[in-house]
Amino acid sequence: MKIGIGSDHAGYRLKEELKKYLRKEGYVVVDFGTKSPKATDYPQYALRVAEAVGKKEVERGILICGTGLGMVIVANKIKGVRATCCNDLFSARLSRLHNDANVLTLGGRILATEFACEIVTLWLETPFSRGKHSRRINQIKRIEKEKFV
Ligand code: RB5
Repeated sequence: MKIGIGSDHAGYRLKEELKKYLRKEGYVVVDFGTKSPKATDYPQYALRVAEAVGKKEVERGILICGTGLGMVIVANKIKGVRATCCNDLFSARLSRLHNDANVLTLGGRILATEFACEIVTLWLETPFSRGKHSRRINQIKRIEKEKFV
């Protein structure tokens, strides 16, 4: 699976750790920046990763800022993106089972590396449960079609 990853300065350290972990696990990881811990602004990185997911250049996206909150706000502006901020295992699991999330956002100032790796693994390995949840995803797609330019 090809994964796009991005962070601002507050997520940089965790991004680098997750990149190493994911590559060791056999995933193909494309890094959309930031390239150093120097202070920067999160929207540009969220946009790059979310667009890559929206255009299906990568299958999934992972975005890290201080909390995961700025990243999730930006990523959900992009058509085709269902981004969820999951700083716990339950949300990570349900965001796949119920919401078919294709972008995961994380808080680099909240999570320890090992726990973040657990969240990411669960999120990548949990399938969408379909059934009644497909109906709801189709409703989201209809809203997107009507409201997005
Ligand atoms: C940067 O200080 C911080 O605001 C940012 O990383 C993020 O948490 C925003 O939502």
